[in-house]
Amino acid sequence: PTPDPIAFLRQQIRTVPDWPEPGVQFRDITPLLANPRAFRVLIDQFVHRYFDLRPDAIAGLDARGFIIGSVLAYELNVGFVPIRKKGKLPFTTVQETYELEYGSATVEMHTDAVKAGDRVLLIDDLIATGGTMMAGKRLLERLGAEVIEGAAIVDLPELGGSKRLREGGLKVFSLVAFE
Ligand code: PRP
Ligand code: ADE
Repeated sequence: PTPDPIAFLRQQIRTVPDWPEPGVQFRDITPLLANPRAFRVLIDQFVHRYFDLRPDAIAGLDARGFIIGSVLAYELNVGFVPIRKKGKLPFTTVQETYELEYGSATVEMHTDAVKAGDRVLLIDDLIATGGTMMAGKRLLERLGAEVIEGAAIVDLPELGGSKRLREGGLKVFSLVAFE
């Protein structure tokens, strides 16, 4: 067993200064994913938390939410639902548009992806402003699902996203915070 799994995971996240633009400290999870022991420790953390909560489905946010969400869905033996950036899903969709630091973005989900009353776990790699996760929550709720929690590897609390999400009525769970 890993003595301090959270400290171990934190060490595997690379910080890239001034990417994609000056002033941003980009928290890059690719070293964590590339390290088989770290990837297992990561997934085990989420399995441990959600095994008893037993969501009916896991909804992952495009694109890095797919990587962890699909493995977690497999481990919990529940279905996986992709919430995609606009223009990628072929069937009928619901859409939500939200504000980014500059401009706006739209995410979509298939209308038959979840059923009314489903208890869904929403997952992404990182919460910054919280806009992406809030849009995912709204999509799921428009189809009548209950979002039991929003989960992420990384939270950036200084950007206020997790606070805003909690104020908006979402339980938020994250493993590593970077100031
Ligand atoms: C990043 C990250 C989250 C989102 C968080 O994705 O993976 O999805 O930003 O930011 P927010 O809390 O301010 O909404 P990005 O938009 O870089 O897309 P990608 O996953 O396709 O790289
Ligand atoms: N998405 C939004 N802000 C980010 C950051 N600082 N690092 C990684 N992904 C992000």
